[in-house]
Amino acid sequence: MPLINPRPWILEAQKEGFAIGGFNANNFEQLQAIVTAAQLEDAPVIVQVSHRALLYLGNGNEIDGLRYFAAVGKIAAESVDAPIALHLDHGTENEAVLAIELGFTSVMFDGGEYSFEENIAISKKISDLAHSMNVCMEAEIGTVPKPDGEEVNLSDLVLTDPDDALKFVNETGVDMLAIALGSVHGMQTKENDLDLGRLEQIRAKVDLPLVLHGSSGVTNEAIQSAIKMGLSKINIATQLNKAFTSGVRNALEENSSLVDPRKYLGRGMALQTEVVRERIRFLGSSGKAGLSK
Ligand code: G3H
Ligand code: ZN
Repeated sequence: MPLINPRPWILEAQKEGFAIGGFNANNFEQLQAIVTAAQLEDAPVIVQVSHRALLYLGNGNEIDGLRYFAAVGKIAAESVDAPIALHLDHGTENEAVLAIELGFTSVMFDGGEYSFEENIAISKKISDLAHSMNVCMEAEIGTVPKPDGEEVNLSDLVLTDPDDALKFVNETGVDMLAIALGSVHGMQTKENDLDLGRLEQIRAKVDLPLVLHGSSGVTNEAIQSAIKMGLSKINIATQLNKAFTSGVRNALEENSSLVDPRKYLGRGMALQTEVVRERIRFLGSSGKAGLSK
């Protein structure tokens, strides 16, 4: 199928109490694993690529990375019957504009480095452009730290204020709002809880699909409760990286003279496909491909 704007699926998920996975890919094999899992689960999925992955894909040039991912993402979606959305994750303003022009069907602007008022102004600008091109738009308020292998600095964690959420949504017109409830990006073990009381307060003010970042470090129980309370897009990256790398590591440990990348990357792809399938079922989006038809 051609790439699809995921907004209707996310609204449906919010109404029915399940969630859509936003699955991150850093390379072609990870992209294929996500699309294959979607096909096997008959599920709608959002394939997403982050600013940092774009730098990797573009060999240091995020614009090249964006062009590369737009082209491959389009072909990957057209190769399966499952509905696939292509999403820019944690993008800059320039990346978001270019992603919209290149055919991404959803974009996130990460205004973390800007003041609240600047974040509103830029998010509104991108949101208007996105809507004129039938593209879904996500923005974020509050901070989900990105420690990138370093120790988490707890002062980086800024939970989303419910009144700010209301003001932000009213003034920007975004389609979905990423909120900070206590999760942290890049965790390898699922041990964090979420501030569900805060989610309830935000939900009482904002009737818009809400997004969880940093889900790999959050317990399944907390994610499940949060989905019931209105989190409708769950971003998953580190869990996929862990699975992919385990597959590669297993293959290389089993045969230390292996040199054919197809043999070890293929094992990474296979293991990641299983984890994406498990997450799709966990989120409740298995069998929901019909939402887009
Ligand atoms: O934007 C991507 C996500 O927030 C992924 O977070 O690596 O903790 O799963 P994660
Ligand atoms: Zn994130």
